[in-house]
Amino acid sequence: MLIQKDISLKKYNTFGIDVTAKHFIAVNTINELIDVLKLNNYPDKFILGGGSNILLTKNINALVIHINLKGKKIVSKTESSIIISSGAGENWHEFVLWCINNGYGGLENLSLIPGNVGTSPIQNIGAYGVELKDHFVSCKVIDLESLELKTFNNTECRFGYRDSIFKQNAKGRYIITSVNFKLTTKNHNLRTNYGAIQEELNTMGTTSPSIQDISKAVIKIRESKLPNPKKIGNSGSFFKNPIINKTQFEALVKQFPDVPSYKLSEEAIKIPAGWLIEKAGFKGKTFNNYGVHKKQALVLVNYGGSKGKDILKLAKLIQETIYRIFGVSIETEVNIL
Ligand code: EPU
Repeated sequence: MLIQKDISLKKYNTFGIDVTAKHFIAVNTINELIDVLKLNNYPDKFILGGGSNILLTKNINALVIHINLKGKKIVSKTESSIIISSGAGENWHEFVLWCINNGYGGLENLSLIPGNVGTSPIQNIGAYGVELKDHFVSCKVIDLESLELKTFNNTECRFGYRDSIFKQNAKGRYIITSVNFKLTTKNHNLRTNYGAIQEELNTMGTTSPSIQDISKAVIKIRESKLPNPKKIGNSGSFFKNPIINKTQFEALVKQFPDVPSYKLSEEAIKIPAGWLIEKAGFKGKTFNNYGVHKKQALVLVNYGGSKGKDILKLAKLIQETIYRIFGVSIETEVNIL
């Protein structure tokens, strides 16, 4: 067991923030993970997955455990569907590509999302009309209180928009070690309704798309709007799209007739936070070496060497300004440490 001291976490978070872990270990097997969790001489432990949804604002004075559990396997098969299990430490996008290359359909709209398989259920990742929950069967977890293994099925995870039990009641209690997905092996259910996908397929000249084509279209759209974390530090959408009630919405439309909206029900309307931030004048704004992305106002970026606490200050300024102008609160999607 190799526990390292004073390790920089820069390469372990997609924002590329350079903070230090007092102690650090990468675990490759479940037994190793359990052994590490049992270590009494490191009472404070911090679990780090893909590091794609976290803003680190300070050094971590704990034992940082990096979940590096790999492996993909077929659990079961029917005539037209398959259940695949993936270790929590597999890179999400590589896993999606592996599924597509094997002819397993379902996750293609979720191509190029940063992060690891094991953290994908926590915030029920979603893009272009598909959410993780649509293909999630179950996940295996370690209960940090008893160190026993447990399984959560889809209902038990209580998935919502960028939400699950792992962000609510069960926050901090479990470590996800693997996830099972139900995918199709034929008659794939292609979801091309999200406007930008159909447009991209038209541009590609594709009339009867395959799962590969949809993945390619999604990759093109994401690359044109979202910064590549390997080049510019970021955590994807920094804020969630706010959901407001009808009365609030009517008041907003009166003042801002061009506000885009998505009706979830008679009483609940989702507004793109990206629009609010752009309208408030923040899109493309740069402060020293961090700022708001030029092409998608929902994404905060670190151009190199910025501090997490400066990015957090900018996030707070954005939240306050949006509330002042529109009377709408926007919540962070990214976890702040
Ligand atoms: N918009 C603007 N200005 C901007 C950005 C967006 O006006 O700078 C408005 C436009 O009206 C646009 C609408 O917002 O039509 C929606 O924009 P987009 O399709 O880019 O989607 P989004 O709501 O900004 C959400 C997810 C993304 C996901 C896309 C596509 C959240 C918080 N974000 O963004 O997820 O890729 O939809 O499905 O729900 C992520 O979670 O990290 C992420 C990137």
